[in-house]
Amino acid sequence: MSFSANSRALVTGAAGFIGSHLVERLLRDNYRVVALDNLSNGREANLKHLLKNSALEFHQVDVVDLDSIQPFFRGIDWVFHLAALADIVPSIQRPIEYHRANVDGTVAVLEAARIASVKRLVYAASSSCYGIPDSFPTPEESAIRPMYPYALSKFLGEQCVMHWAQVYKLGCVSLRLFNVYGPRSRTSGTYGAVFGVFLAQKLANRPFTVVGDGNQTRDFTFVTDVVDAFVRAAASDLRGEILNVGSGNTYSVNRLVELLGGEVVHVPERPGEPRCTFADTRRIYQALNWRPQVTFEAGVRTMVDRLEDWCEAPVWDPLSIEQATADWFRYLGR
Ligand SMILES: NC(=O)c1ccc[n+]([C@@H]2O[C@H](COP(=O)([O-])OP(=O)(O)OC[C@H]3O[C@@H](n4cnc5c(N)ncnc54)[C@H](O)[C@@H]3O)[C@@H](O)[C@H]2O)c1
Repeated sequence: MSFSANSRALVTGAAGFIGSHLVERLLRDNYRVVALDNLSNGREANLKHLLKNSALEFHQVDVVDLDSIQPFFRGIDWVFHLAALADIVPSIQRPIEYHRANVDGTVAVLEAARIASVKRLVYAASSSCYGIPDSFPTPEESAIRPMYPYALSKFLGEQCVMHWAQVYKLGCVSLRLFNVYGPRSRTSGTYGAVFGVFLAQKLANRPFTVVGDGNQTRDFTFVTDVVDAFVRAAASDLRGEILNVGSGNTYSVNRLVELLGGEVVHVPERPGEPRCTFADTRRIYQALNWRPQVTFEAGVRTMVDRLEDWCEAPVWDPLSIEQATADWFRYLGR
């Protein structure tokens, strides 16, 4: 991979879950890293173990503010744009905020990257753009059907990224991430990804709140594999490409429960959610020779070994989930 001792990378959303792992990987690869985050959902603690490294500089800044972020892009080779608001229910409640952070923020980052003539910009897109897909595994050319404002905003961001690649010849690659999991995944107050919900319940010795019959499946991809896809995309000479990033498999929620071990209660299925997410990963394999390395079983073991990380996470039960998802049913239900 192209690398020189003074190569510089910039990561937006660096204090978040995936961003903090990406910073860790880039520092390990001897990059100098500029990390940006407004700490709206991210935590400086996610970078705490790295801040001693003189190759890392962290700036608390809102990516929407082009004038403020522009100076940080000078001399940067690679930009990784991960900053976004990333929860479903708040996006339904506050669509303007999501549009601002995820669309306006992306345009500001693209402009900063263009002005600074960076070599490559890799965007964290979301498989939620496929909505409820027609086929599995789902290829990149599938129909686009955003079901809620988060999905829409991430797709609009991707459209901007492709536009900057087309008009300004910026070296942009968009990675459509499926269900990413791993240490430091978000444990904010918002009801969200199944791993955070289940691990907090396991730690508190409470039953797992399984949605529906639990036979729905998800393409769970371990965070270090996802980070590797980002680095390969940056080191490539691709421009204007969209690539799925998934595990090459799909796992039921019941299988996750089996691996974690514990009692179960069921909560109602939600409108707008697919029965299955499953990435067709042939394109990324061909383009970047990327294949995930961490098996689901090994990934889940890593999570269980770090159960204490979820000691401050909210412990959900059927009643608190019903309250937290009321707007989901209200707006997305028939
Ligand atoms: N985790 C997943 O399964 C998944 C799946 C698909 C796509 N993604 C995308 O990957 C990216 C990272 O996701 P994550 O799971 O690490 O989420 P995260 O919430 O942990 O990280 C996002 C970070 O962006 C920061 N941020 C938000 N708005 C900002 C702004 N205006 N200016 C500066 N910083 C801002 C937040 O403070 C946070 O630290 C996001 O773009 C998300 O849409 C994630």
